[in-house]
Amino acid sequence: MTASAGLPHPASDDEARQEFAADVRRGLLLRPRQLQARYFYDALGSQLFEAICRLPWYRIPRAERVLLAEHAAAIGVRLPELTTLVELGCGSGAKLALFVERLQRARPLRVRLVDISAAALELSARTLGRFSDVSVVGHRAPFVPGLRAAVARRPVQGSMLVLFLGSNLGNFHPPRAAAFLREVADCLRPGDGFLLGADLVKPEAELLLAYGDPIGVTAAFNKNLLARVNRELGGDFDLGAFDHVPRWNAAAARMESHLVSRTDQIVHVPAADLTVSLCSGESIWTESSYKYEPEGLAAMGADAGLVCRDQWIEPAARFALTLFTR
Ligand code: AVI
Repeated sequence: MTASAGLPHPASDDEARQEFAADVRRGLLLRPRQLQARYFYDALGSQLFEAICRLPWYRIPRAERVLLAEHAAAIGVRLPELTTLVELGCGSGAKLALFVERLQRARPLRVRLVDISAAALELSARTLGRFSDVSVVGHRAPFVPGLRAAVARRPVQGSMLVLFLGSNLGNFHPPRAAAFLREVADCLRPGDGFLLGADLVKPEAELLLAYGDPIGVTAAFNKNLLARVNRELGGDFDLGAFDHVPRWNAAAARMESHLVSRTDQIVHVPAADLTVSLCSGESIWTESSYKYEPEGLAAMGADAGLVCRDQWIEPAARFALTLFTR
């Protein structure tokens, strides 16, 4: 998967680099210091995330696949007029292909893929190419602009299902998540559906393993953010001088990923016109992954004008797939 924060998409590589530099500067001058999680997903970061998805301790992808395979048919029954699927953040397209395979349908399907990564769009389109009754169009854009572009071209007849999987919602802070759900709801017509995959609150020990795996893939994913600052902005972060530290924040119901400085050190990032002094033990907060309660997901949908029609839970990993309609 590649994540995007639903923000305007820079038109050129140069604009993207300037935006990255400005965000790095702003974030590293904050207290606590921060870097935005959306910058994890360069080419290497996307591959590291794919590797995380194969780790036994990170159970979201497998739990979600089980639920999609088991309940696709029921979702098709709920949406009998379904003609269009839109996936926000399509990644490899594997999950959508599994869903399409199990979905019983009376008519051809139009699939619209939204992702900021051209590579992800290409791969997904290839994955879905095996269905002869499915036409695929990609929108290289952040989630909401991409959804709006797909909606602008939808036919008058038939209903649409928007899929937002992988607990990507969890990377939004609550006000942004609420705004995002309203933006999605505004794109739906009566009879359309919204399928949300979201990770649930579970024992702290399981969460610490999921976000701090013992073989260090998640640590590499997190530190790649510093490596990216070095590569693209000329920074001199010493990756060995930071520890990846996952923390469960029970009050906020979120996992936090931090990069904690091992020593007092000074870091320069020339393209962001920045020099930062970090103390030993000082942290750079790089990601939040919110965890939910089943009723909380239904309530968030209701606040956005969506009706919760079904909710399926994978009990071992504690992961929920929730079907809303407009
Ligand atoms: C993409 N996102 C939903 C993942 C998550 O669980 O927050 C990213 C991730 N970070 C560390 N492990 C996985």
